[in-house]
Amino acid sequence: MTALTLSTSSAATLRADALVVGVAKGPKGPVVAPGAEAVDKAFDGKLASVLETLGAAGGEGEVTKLPAPSGVKAPVVLAVGLGDAPAKGDGFDGEALRRAAGSAARALAGTKKGAFALPVESAADVAAIAEGALLGAYAFNAYRNGSAKNGKDDKSAPLAEVAILGGKPRDKAYKAVADRAIALAEEINRARDLINTPSNDLTPKSFAAAAQAAGKEHGLTVEVLDEKALAKGGYGGLTGVGQGSANPPRLVKIAYTHAKAKKTVALVGKGITYDSGGISLKPAGHNETMKCDMSGAAAVFAAVVTAARLGLQVNVTGWLALAENMPSGTATRPGDVLTMYSGKTVEVLNTDAEGRLVLADAITRASEEKPDAIVDVATLTGAMVVALGDRTFGIMANDDAFRASLHEIAGEVGEQSWPLPLPAELLKGMDSPVADLANVGGRMGGGLAAGLFLQEFVGEGIAWAHLDIAGPAFHESAPYGYTHKGGTGASVRTLVRLAERTAAGDLG
Ligand code: BES
Ligand code: MN
Ligand code: ZN
Repeated sequence: MTALTLSTSSAATLRADALVVGVAKGPKGPVVAPGAEAVDKAFDGKLASVLETLGAAGGEGEVTKLPAPSGVKAPVVLAVGLGDAPAKGDGFDGEALRRAAGSAARALAGTKKGAFALPVESAADVAAIAEGALLGAYAFNAYRNGSAKNGKDDKSAPLAEVAILGGKPRDKAYKAVADRAIALAEEINRARDLINTPSNDLTPKSFAAAAQAAGKEHGLTVEVLDEKALAKGGYGGLTGVGQGSANPPRLVKIAYTHAKAKKTVALVGKGITYDSGGISLKPAGHNETMKCDMSGAAAVFAAVVTAARLGLQVNVTGWLALAENMPSGTATRPGDVLTMYSGKTVEVLNTDAEGRLVLADAITRASEEKPDAIVDVATLTGAMVVALGDRTFGIMANDDAFRASLHEIAGEVGEQSWPLPLPAELLKGMDSPVADLANVGGRMGGGLAAGLFLQEFVGEGIAWAHLDIAGPAFHESAPYGYTHKGGTGASVRTLVRLAERTAAGDLG
């Protein structure tokens, strides 16, 4: 794991392999951002014009490497674009800092120590830079053996050490945000590892084992129901989805409790370790990335462990609904009727709408413990990706204020989300001629229908929200900011902030 330190050294004298400075897009060309004064001085005050000559404009994510002038100890200066310069008197937006730090950290993969001299006005700025740098300093090399034939070193390690300048290491607030950023980024990177691990190695059983190991490490209670316990317990959704696979299903409860907690938040994650679609098989072109279908469970897992590492004064219970959706002679068929854990019956008209089946059981089970709120997180529908694109998750809820809070929290931590409705008439589309409910309705509003289906399993009087992260969970195009190709860890920051706000009594 990448090490993080706050440093009081001057940008010019700190020993590092590269010195990161910020450059913003001004009305008349690039502008050197605060924090880099000493470096600019070593360039005789001409850093902005040097950058302009090299074609830099200060746009978001732009990276320019320069040999350091004499007077700067680091051999390389890396100027990273921050995007538009803020209006006079305003500081840089946290997400701009987070992304710039991430772009710089990615560009420094393979080097040892990067010193970040980005604009810092507050502890929150240090938090954003730390998060961005630690999330940018990530690589998934578990399956590379370094023998690529293309002549490239295909196993370059992430940046090993991050030093942030301009913070106040002896100030409690700064120290606290640095520690928080380390815990958060390590757990997000752990979620990314789980998502990136191929389905031949990450099965419901091995995922449950990972939860058990983390539980031991961080003093959490972990309970695992295996396929026998699930069948015996009447978990028809988990059993029905998992029964076609040689890798049987699991329901994992991973709970963090605080002796003085006043509230309990339950987080429920969709953990389909591979989604082939089942008998309603997905066509080629739609199944290559379906190892990512456990991203919700990975996010929940990461959030619970982070809450524990931060010692938050709130109980956070994670429910990981783990199954592999495969076609076989034992698989659920379209037309089969499942009796869910709640007792409701569901006619499975499309075995590819499996996420709502495993989540329904987990939501009913979570409701039995009467938490103050339930948030489920799932790569649930392609319709959500069509609606919101691949960087924004949708938020649905049975409580307007709770939905608004989650949207606000996501914005605060730099995650893109949007509130969506649950139009009651779409539930009628899921009427079944034989069962209480069908698992699919019409094509229109598919993401909302999935939310309505889940709502049927939420316990009476419990505030519930559903995050459909199908778009942002797995990144396929060019990396940007702190986002790499593959698993992103989307929603973890939102879940952790929700836990923090609940602990502080800022929510309901
Ligand atoms: N796991 C998929 C949804 C998904 C799609 C996640 C793209 C990530 C990227 C889900 O299980 C699924 O197959 N949903 C179906 C539902 C349909 C059959 C009602 C879909 O969206 O097509
Ligand atoms: Mn599916
Ligand atoms: Zn799925």
